[in-house]
Amino acid sequence: MLNGKRVLLIVAGGIAAFKALELIRRLRERGCSVRCVLTEAGARFVTPLSLQALSEDRVYSDMFSLTDESEMGHIQLSRDADLLVVAPATANVLARMAAGMADDLATTVLLATDKPVLAAPAMNVRMWTHAATVANVETLRRRGVHFIGPNDGAMACNEHGPGRMSEPEEIVAAIEALLDPGTVSEQARVLAGRRAVVTSGPTREAIDPVRYISNHSSGKQGHAIAAALARLGADVTLVSGPVAVADPPGVRVVHVESADQMLAACLAAGRIDVAVCAAAVADWKAATPANSKIKKKAGAAPPALALAANPDILAALSTPGPKRPALVIGFAAETENVVANALDKRKRKGCDWILANDVSPATGTFGGERNTVHLVSDAGVEDWPTMAKEEVAQRLAERVGRHLGVVRPAQAAE
Ligand code: CTP
Repeated sequence: MLNGKRVLLIVAGGIAAFKALELIRRLRERGCSVRCVLTEAGARFVTPLSLQALSEDRVYSDMFSLTDESEMGHIQLSRDADLLVVAPATANVLARMAAGMADDLATTVLLATDKPVLAAPAMNVRMWTHAATVANVETLRRRGVHFIGPNDGAMACNEHGPGRMSEPEEIVAAIEALLDPGTVSEQARVLAGRRAVVTSGPTREAIDPVRYISNHSSGKQGHAIAAALARLGADVTLVSGPVAVADPPGVRVVHVESADQMLAACLAAGRIDVAVCAAAVADWKAATPANSKIKKKAGAAPPALALAANPDILAALSTPGPKRPALVIGFAAETENVVANALDKRKRKGCDWILANDVSPATGTFGGERNTVHLVSDAGVEDWPTMAKEEVAQRLAERVGRHLGVVRPAQAAE
């Protein structure tokens, strides 16, 4: 229930604005009061009168109205709320939020608030996947803005893909999760009681105390997956190589350097239901790392570097037996024949699903914000549209939830 809670609903200008009316109704049914701020563009899609009738409160839109400023300044508007909800959050309003603009009442309130903010994006699929929007969403997420959706589906502009605003019921569930975590529906926490291990980032293989072998993995995708599984209620251990991204909230993080340490940390996590190997593990390590810095010798040829194979963590976790997780998921970082190589990799490693992604430099996947993946399972190959790494993570976590819904949970560590 949301009894006594107060939402400040910011309605921006998009075709999905009509869903804001239903959202108000649903929130009020749950005992939540709603006060609306309507942008100028929003007023082209819904009328202040409809919002006013449903919220039973006046609607605020004009920053320079003297009455508003004297009776209800923009600071007061956010002070009076427990949560600010932007629905629909258009590409334009997200860009203005990311840039810290305050050029109308909606963005001024958003800039002035110290309350949590939830945005429900709604826009054309190309606008949603545009690098500018992806960067804005990433910036806002880093600053603590929460997001719900968008969903996949047919859009008003006759296109198909992510961009449809979440349904009012889904937005209400997200609001409940933020304002009253105790009441989060069981459905939203489909992975409660499940144990997960996620590997993320690169590994570093020492050549000597100052040099190492590594790669360009940023850890963004693996960290996002760990966070998404935790949001669905899973007990997550994230085994991370050296990365610049922050530890995700609600996740146990084990920091490691080498592939050997990464494997040991995965095995130490005990019995798990799902393993996701998103780390870019170095395939080779120095056969005999030097204990002191290798020095140059005048006139001598450069030293030869003898390599040894690293353990394959994904293959190790996929080994059949009573301890094997019910679901083992790997990634296939490929620069050519992406799907064909992933099909082969899935067989070789013995895992259940492979998320194949093209990491050739032109795609900007390594270190970038977006990812284009293909889910390879025994059901075939599913092509996912290009989306933010957080969305890939959310979608994968939901798939894991649906899959594990029919599998018995693993026992706690033995
Ligand atoms: N992986 C792992 N341990 C390794 C190497 C890879 O756990 N020593 C995992 C990765 O986390 C990823 C999957 O295996 O989930 C595939 O990684 P990738 O680098 O694409 O494949 P490779 O094993 O390096 O195979 P190839 O050389 O054929 O590309």
